[in-house]
Amino acid sequence: MQSAAIVAARIARARHTLVLTGAGISAESGVPTFRDAQTGLWSRYRPEDLATPEAFRRDPALIWRWYEWRRGLVAAAAPNAGHRALADLARRVSLTLVTQNVDGMHQRAGSPGTICLHGDLFRNICSITRLAIEPEWIAAHGDEEPPPSPHHPDGYARPGVVWFGENLPQDALDAALAAARRCDVVLSIGTSGMVHPAAGLPGEAQRNGAWFAEINPQRTALSDGADLVVADTAARVLPAIVAALSGA
Ligand code: APR
Repeated sequence: MQSAAIVAARIARARHTLVLTGAGISAESGVPTFRDAQTGLWSRYRPEDLATPEAFRRDPALIWRWYEWRRGLVAAAAPNAGHRALADLARRVSLTLVTQNVDGMHQRAGSPGTICLHGDLFRNICSITRLAIEPEWIAAHGDEEPPPSPHHPDGYARPGVVWFGENLPQDALDAALAAARRCDVVLSIGTSGMVHPAAGLPGEAQRNGAWFAEINPQRTALSDGADLVVADTAARVLPAIVAALSGA
């Protein structure tokens, strides 16, 4: 796979590599991408209409049930060859992995220090104080949708993810920007490049002299700016890059 060899050669010469991933890297694990059509009873809703503070205020039970459904989907899925290849890559080169995904697949595949820009599907926080709520509390109040918050009398448990209109965790964003400013290679994998500030990371890296490759079967908002577009899936390209790196 010629493109994988080109990317591998660039990574081999790089002092540091930044990898940005989106929902597409989890598609081959059977986790629907964010803009995939929703299935079953959720098909009549658009994610953009559910993943908002307003939607939660309006109908906390509906939003809690939607996230419980998504947690079930993700828990039943497993990291794929793309996730595993990135974990392998981190053992071979200096790499920062930044993900927009909340599915925890990179962490389950063994990627160390994954920067989660949009939070974690399996964490719960108080809807008012945003303080973390422990799994034991959720289990003890599992019959309530959503469970009440232990941190505030008017609060509920809500998923620890970034909703539309909410700010990203500043420490995660700062770490991602720092990596963009010091990397020599930046890879964008499985993201449509439609949501900022995540989508701005490859451009920020290029402005600091980095070489930018995109891995995605479809063209995206980032494709025109890429130095190389690999029009293929993550589960095929990433293992080929690792193989090329190890000279296999
Ligand atoms: N390998 C690589 N890319 C793939 C694969 C695959 N096997 N399958 C699909 N893709 C690509 C699609 O072509 C698409 O460009 O993954 C991308 C998924 O795009 P989105 O569904 O828009 O997901 P993402 O880019 O992660 O969304 C970013 O937007 O909605 C918010 O917070 C949400 O984190 C999400 C953010």
